[in-house]
Amino acid sequence: MSEQTVLLDIKDLKKHFPVKGSMPWSGVKAMIRAVDGISFDIRAGETFSLVGESGCGKTTTAKMVLLLETPTEGSIQFEGNDIGGFSSSQLHDYRGAVQAVFQDPWSSLSPRMRARFIIGEPLMVNKGLSSRSSELADKVSQLLNDVGLDPNSIDNYPHEFSGGQRQRVAVARALSLNPRIIVLDEPVSALDVSIRAQIMNMLKDLQAEYGVSYLLIAHNLATVRYLSHRVAVMYLGQIVEFAESEELFTNPLHPYTKALISAALSTRPDIERDEIVLTGEVPSPANPPAGCRFHTRCPWAFDRCVGEEPKVKEMAPGHTVSCHLFD
Ligand SMILES: Nc1ncnc2c1ncn2[C@@H]1O[C@H](COP(=O)(O)OP(=O)(O)OP(=O)(O)O)[C@@H](O)[C@H]1O
Ligand code: SF4
Ligand SMILES: [Mg+2]
Repeated sequence: MSEQTVLLDIKDLKKHFPVKGSMPWSGVKAMIRAVDGISFDIRAGETFSLVGESGCGKTTTAKMVLLLETPTEGSIQFEGNDIGGFSSSQLHDYRGAVQAVFQDPWSSLSPRMRARFIIGEPLMVNKGLSSRSSELADKVSQLLNDVGLDPNSIDNYPHEFSGGQRQRVAVARALSLNPRIIVLDEPVSALDVSIRAQIMNMLKDLQAEYGVSYLLIAHNLATVRYLSHRVAVMYLGQIVEFAESEELFTNPLHPYTKALISAALSTRPDIERDEIVLTGEVPSPANPPAGCRFHTRCPWAFDRCVGEEPKVKEMAPGHTVSCHLFD
């Protein structure tokens, strides 16, 4: 992994949203610290995953990568260049190189468009292919075939596909411009359990075939473990632990990661474990706890955790953790 080309290099990225209805007369504008200083890179051909409970900032991070939100602070470099300084033609190329597939293919696919145009539209807009050209039809047929759909379904509407097939159409559209990175935000969680594995296998096969990188966001840790090369665990807008996937799942260090993994294993009664139960609500990102942000829920919290923020420590090559237990 370490030899691979870095495609996307994210440094100290932040996104703060103003709290609606906060008290302007107080002179202090309350902010939701949705993403609060995260750094990671995405390398060519890998799957990099973000995990963490609802509201920890995963989608906001993805939206900044997709240019749908502007960072409050920090930088995103693509192939060594800061996207904040891109010209309009560089932005155009970047939008083609970084595509997305979201959770619900119903809402991302226009119901009135045939597969031919859903998948072919980026080629028409970006490559100037005409809608009735044989070149477009050939390319779309190839993409349908690559995602495991019958090329004869080229003139189907979204409702004529099953849920899993619609997600395949969304992946075909994302692949159409031969992107370097696809953001997958909960790509299988809206699908029937029986077809999730098929879609995950397809994503893996397509990665090998196209050499594309994935930025994967998923609640389901089994999905993350199956697809990822490297994983970052987020809590309240920050990365608390980061490692190669197998290392993270076999040797989790941060109390929060341990709790997430043990909660996921609770559906596997055949596996013995010391269960760590995550108690309490996630605190508001508008008012994160001082010191270690996890201290209000951490079973191992001690005095220092309340007043001092833990620093990032590298415990093994490529395995970092932010927790005072490892000082
Ligand atoms: N446009 C916005 N304006 C204000 N607050 C926002 C906005 N977008 C996100 N937030 C807040 O930022 C925080 C992070 O949201 P985000 O959608 O990134 O979480 P997430 O990790 O993707 O959660 P989930 O797993 O539920 O999808 C949440 O508290 C959310 O309410
Ligand atoms: S720093 Fe303290 S509160 Fe935070 S995870 Fe470690 S032990 Fe728990
Ligand atoms: Mg989300």
